[in-house]
Amino acid sequence: MRSGMERRFFLKAALASLAAPALWQMNGLAKRAGMLPENAEDTLTVPLSIGNGVRFYDRMIVITSPDGVAVVSSICPHLGCRINHAEAAELVCPCHGSRFNARGEVLHGPAMRNLQPLPFVLDRAEAVLRVTLKK
Ligand code: FES
Repeated sequence: MRSGMERRFFLKAALASLAAPALWQMNGLAKRAGMLPENAEDTLTVPLSIGNGVRFYDRMIVITSPDGVAVVSSICPHLGCRINHAEAAELVCPCHGSRFNARGEVLHGPAMRNLQPLPFVLDRAEAVLRVTLKK
């Protein structure tokens, strides 16, 4: 015969094993409904002191000019190479030579799509640019 303490432990373990999958499923539903934040984003901070020009980062390209700021993904929409240099104000993919303008629009293929624009916030109070990257 089991002691009362053993029975209580067994009962708690049984309830936990039933509740865990239900909680996991509810958490997933809540995330899909936008009720919980997805932990699938990174925010990168770039100082505004970089001045005008094209700056290449691991997953993004920041283009600053007197006309404003553009931030685009550095991943080429052709086959996914990382774009890491510019020539004559054009972003150039090192793999197959696709070219994009400073807004990430295709100028020359083989890429058929523009570079993905990335959402950003200009925080003038802290003199930084905050860029959101999806993982
Ligand atoms: Fe960029 Fe092919 S991967 S042009």
